[in-house]
Amino acid sequence: MSNQQSEIARRRTFGIVAHPDAGKTTLTEKLLLFGGAIQVAGAVKSNKIKKSTTSDFMEIERQRGISVATSVMAFDYEDKKINILDTPGHKDFAEDTYRTLTAVDSVIVVIDVAKGVEEQTEKLVEVCRMRKTPVIVFINKMDRPGKESFDLLDEVEQKLQLPCTPLSWPIGMGDRCQGVYNIFEQRLVLFRPDNKQGRPEETIEFDNLEDPELDKLVGEAAAMELRAEVEMISEVYPPFDRQEYLSQETSPVFFGSAVNNFGVKELLDCFVKIAPEPRPRPAEERAVLPNEDKFSGFVFKIHANMDPRHRDRIAFLRICSGTFERNTNYLHVRQGRKMKFANPTSFMADRKEVVDEAFAGDVVGLYDSGNFKIGDTLTEGEELHFKGIPSFSPEQFRRVYNGDPLKSKQLAKGLDQLMDEGVAQLFTREVDNAQIIGCVGALQFDVIQYRLEHEYGATVQYEPINLHKALWVTCPDEAALQAFKDRRRQHIGYDKEGRLVYLADSAWTLQMAQDNHPEVVFHATSEL
Ligand code: G4P
Repeated sequence: MSNQQSEIARRRTFGIVAHPDAGKTTLTEKLLLFGGAIQVAGAVKSNKIKKSTTSDFMEIERQRGISVATSVMAFDYEDKKINILDTPGHKDFAEDTYRTLTAVDSVIVVIDVAKGVEEQTEKLVEVCRMRKTPVIVFINKMDRPGKESFDLLDEVEQKLQLPCTPLSWPIGMGDRCQGVYNIFEQRLVLFRPDNKQGRPEETIEFDNLEDPELDKLVGEAAAMELRAEVEMISEVYPPFDRQEYLSQETSPVFFGSAVNNFGVKELLDCFVKIAPEPRPRPAEERAVLPNEDKFSGFVFKIHANMDPRHRDRIAFLRICSGTFERNTNYLHVRQGRKMKFANPTSFMADRKEVVDEAFAGDVVGLYDSGNFKIGDTLTEGEELHFKGIPSFSPEQFRRVYNGDPLKSKQLAKGLDQLMDEGVAQLFTREVDNAQIIGCVGALQFDVIQYRLEHEYGATVQYEPINLHKALWVTCPDEAALQAFKDRRRQHIGYDKEGRLVYLADSAWTLQMAQDNHPEVVFHATSEL
């Protein structure tokens, strides 16, 4: 195997998704701790925006700082190179998370044992299902009382529509939690509360649960229960098959307690054995395979103006094929020109460094002065356009006005750059040239206003606007499209790229438009 091939084959790039508070940050930190990437717990800052601080802009700025640092956390474990891509938990930043999911090869879903499957998890897993991304489920907080394990599995199967295969099984829960039985490796792992710094767990080989030693270790009642439950699992759930996991026909489930370092090592040890290596990525032109000789990659996230004194932006590039090299000319496909990068940066858990080369599966940060927007592709010369990085139909709208006539240039530039970053979408209504910002979550309006003021010196004023949805529109029949545009003039607009958008003011008008113009297709994402 060439060096490139073996480097690619050892990459494991994944994201952790969860409803806020389920334990995503804690689990990430514990994985880093086991991977030796950090030395003590508490080193990874939470990137959560706490509920109480939604209007605290300094908090938003602080979070942005943290989220650059935690965008990618790379470490070596056994013979694998693990890249964890961070996803914001806050629902108003869901679009960021959706886009990050385009750059991962698999996902770990964290579920709180007491809360079960929550709303945000459902939405995120739906995106994974659409992309056929393999999913591992981690049921967290087993040190607390919660739902029955079999009920949780049913919930995962029904609400997340993920058929599952338990690979570990809890012995008791909450106060009575004694440990987990690792079905995958047939070992017993005993729970020791207060193991927050990750000492090695006490694990005991146990390939035969009938062994009376089990009764001595966990007590007769718990031993009987475990035997009965493991037997039931073998009757109800099919044995684990890696191929089925990779094709998303089944999701392995683990139980544990991230904060107590419990069950986390089992998860990680199994993850490095079963998780997929970098997977092919679909481009409009063809499928791009990781092992191809030539480099290609796309930008899935942009962080701008971390330091307002320098207009610095970092574009995060997922490498899809080949080897990316520093100071080498690559084609920026959208702009049709060559660019090279003197300081491509890789992010480790607690530091970053300039890299000379990076391989398919890796993410590099590229310092940028405004050349990139989300979805942009870099290649060695081929005109490729990676798919699956759409904008989503926004759900919240405001009309924008310039609050300071002397600063209209600054406002235009600021809006332009923030939209490239994917913070929100800007539409122009045809009838009156109204500029309308659409967001997935309302918090984005505050972020935009604050950042325009602090980074661009511009003042934006918002006015409520009665809009229900903005949907992209296509129609194969020119005449029918023209008729639609003429009839619906009030509701016609364009996005920043000049694509036709239908601005529906209510579900009812949308329905009417669809009924009256059956030839016209309405799209919920910009990927038409
Ligand atoms: P998130 O990133 O998914 O939003 O969750 P995060 O890891 O921040 O965890 C949310 C809360 O749940 C934290 O408590 C965390 O300590 C706690 N937690 C995580 N894993 C476990 C677990 O296995 N058992 C129990 N009992 N709690 C767990 P917090 O009070 O919000 O913050 P902190 O002050 O403890 O950091």
